[in-house]
Amino acid sequence: MIERFLFLLLMGIATNDVRGQTMDDVYNLYHDLLKVSSYSKHVRPQLDQSKPTIVNITFDLIAIRELDEIMGKFSIAGNIWMVWEDQRLTWNPADYGNITTTRLDIGEIWKPDLIIGHPMEAITPIGFDRDFPVRVYPNGVIQWAPGDVMTTTCKIDITWFPFDTQICEVIFIPWGTESSEMTINAVKRTISTRAFVSHGAWDLIDAYAVERFIVNVYPTYNVVLKLKRRPAFVVVNVLLPVLVASILNVLVFFLPPQSGERISYSITVMLAIAVFLTIVSDNLPKTSEPMPTICYFLLTNLVMGSVIMIATILNLNLFYKSDVKPVPSSLADLFKIMSCRRPRLSRIKELAEKNENDTTIELSEYNKMQINADQPIPSGSRSFIEDSDDVTIVTWQDISYLFDKILGVLAILWLLLSMSAFMGTV
Ligand SMILES: *[C@@H]1O[C@H](CO)[C@@H](O)[C@H](O)[C@H]1NC(C)=O
Ligand SMILES: *[C@@H]1O[C@H](CO)[C@@H](O)[C@H](O)[C@H]1NC(C)=O
Repeated sequence: MIERFLFLLLMGIATNDVRGQTMDDVYNLYHDLLKVSSYSKHVRPQLDQSKPTIVNITFDLIAIRELDEIMGKFSIAGNIWMVWEDQRLTWNPADYGNITTTRLDIGEIWKPDLIIGHPMEAITPIGFDRDFPVRVYPNGVIQWAPGDVMTTTCKIDITWFPFDTQICEVIFIPWGTESSEMTINAVKRTISTRAFVSHGAWDLIDAYAVERFIVNVYPTYNVVLKLKRRPAFVVVNVLLPVLVASILNVLVFFLPPQSGERISYSITVMLAIAVFLTIVSDNLPKTSEPMPTICYFLLTNLVMGSVIMIATILNLNLFYKSDVKPVPSSLADLFKIMSCRRPRLSRIKELAEKNENDTTIELSEYNKMQINADQPIPSGSRSFIEDSDDVTIVTWQDISYLFDKILGVLAILWLLLSMSAFMGTV
């Protein structure tokens, strides 16, 4: 474990200045401190027991191990440095060969029993099951820095996924200890991150520590971490592909109806969007409280895909509608108003005039116009619109082409609107 290694390293550095003493000195010191004074670890290290023991705490963050949105589990690795004074463990260095510091087992002396509030796993006091040694100084100052993986619950708000910021707290509580017995002193507001290894999915943007009280009686030490999700993974793997698929979806209106591929094209695109919806929902908490905005965005795209498909089917229907049934004059009027170019229609009129003079030509021209060349254009299939200077014939295909344009523009507007709404909210 990295934290253990770090701790032992620091311990090693601290031990280097102990010189000049013999093994007897160390043995005598140990014996005098713990045996002669009949030390009891159940008694607080305070000569005046009416005063609380002050424990100075600092925190060393080593790594963010896990932030699980689905289970609301937050896990970090770190060292919690505790410094307190035990007035029974003092000595005069001159009496013990100038020993200026020594090491004791934590099991032999009084220690603050910190547990984690809101634990995710079984509750055990920090450093309880491992023999983290303590460092003792002649003036009775004790330094203890158990390292551990601390797992706690964290309420995660994924409304703005994947651009969300989470605030998670690890709370240390000296179990069963009232503030009249023990005071927690957060020496520094900041948390040391000198050994911090950055996390791939989360960016640590703020870290601080505060001391608080539960119901004004029980002191706590709270480590607060503010984490911002690195969104690149979701943007590259979900958002951009969905965006591209949506753009492709709109392009169906520019696909010639004669190709006969329109339906399969839009179904394929819609399926692609549905697949991405599944991928996203796999990575999100299965709760509706709160709903991530990205789900609404993806749903909008899926609905858009369905609407585009319905519109394509109806429009294809129009396109292949028999010209025997005339185009209603209201539609023809609409077409006339919307259509800025008329050469195609003028051409039909021209051809119709020519046809009266010379019946042998221009049948191929009629074919190009998608009009059955074998018969002359039935009079019922046209809407003749009396204009001041022109007469135009509107076919169902013209109407279909017109709808394609209108629907294409509407779909692009919808796409831009839903995208800017999503980008604007996050
Ligand atoms: C605890 O910290 C305070 C300053 O916040 C300091 O005055 C005191 O000496 C420290 N106690 C120990 C035991 O180091
Ligand atoms: C302890 O330190 C004092 C003063 O520095 C020195 O006179 C004495 O000899 C030292 N004792 C031992 C055992 O090293």
